Amino acid sequence: MRHLLEVDDLSPSEVRAILDLSRAPAPAVLAGRGMALLFEKPSVRTRNSMEMAVVQLGGHPLTIRPDEVGLDVRETVEDVTRTLGAYHAMIGARVFEHSKVERMAVCSAVPVVNMLSDDAHPLQALADVLTMADEFGGVDELADRTIAFVGDGNNVARSLGIAAGMCGMRFRLATPPGYGLSEPDLARIVAAGTDLVVTDDPAEAVAGADAVYTDVWASMGHEDEADTRRRAFDGFTVDDELMARLAPEGIFLHCLPAHRGEEVTDAVLEGSRSRVWPQAENRMHAARGALVWLMEHR
Ligand code: CP
Ligand code: NVA
Repeated sequence: MRHLLEVDDLSPSEVRAILDLSRAPAPAVLAGRGMALLFEKPSVRTRNSMEMAVVQLGGHPLTIRPDEVGLDVRETVEDVTRTLGAYHAMIGARVFEHSKVERMAVCSAVPVVNMLSDDAHPLQALADVLTMADEFGGVDELADRTIAFVGDGNNVARSLGIAAGMCGMRFRLATPPGYGLSEPDLARIVAAGTDLVVTDDPAEAVAGADAVYTDVWASMGHEDEADTRRRAFDGFTVDDELMARLAPEGIFLHCLPAHRGEEVTDAVLEGSRSRVWPQAENRMHAARGALVWLMEHR
């Protein structure tokens, strides 16, 4: 049984196959079937893109809040997973602890898709490389390009670093001291084949890069650290000055939601080099590609 908990659950050629499927007509692989979508955290893009991807594949999406099933309260993650697998062709889950999706995958009779955990956001990363492929003329044109991530060393940064390397891209990560990715996470990015540079200097990270990416400074579950983080991330806002250091055709990406005036200025988010809206739309296309691939490789 194949699952998608992090991008490196796939090989580079499998990532490529999903990107190709994302642009192919939607086959009815979920006709008469359902997909359970469990959310422990809020969502705009992931819930809507997944629900619509399932519909486009002929299936029925069923979104569930954790309190509705009592995840690890009313019954265990394992018992919920085995039960949902009896009704649904696949299970998606957005969770705090990454171990929850790992526990699901261990006991699940159907593919499990990580819709964001504290550690990883693989569906986002697939949409991100799809967006850059669109921008730069195809997946083959991603090789030897550079993406810089400026901000918090979080779930989005980790998955992006892995996906970038699998597509032959270089990855530069600029975080304030104390907010970087862990050594095991960095090792995992390198193991994916990524040419990785780690720095605490945003200007160094973006110099000549083809894309700059940022994300909120306080992820879901870290909201109480927002004030401390605002101080720690001073100087890490993606603004026009930082954008001017990119390659001439360099673009701006953000997984959204954005906190304008914090990790990115309003001018950059709304500027001519921002690709955040096609990137958000690509969540649906990339999700559809991933679901088709998983249904074909159960
Ligand atoms: N980018 C993303 O995952 O957005 P949501 O949290 O709204 O799903
Ligand atoms: N890093 C953010 C991503 C939101 C899509 C979070 O986990 O809240």
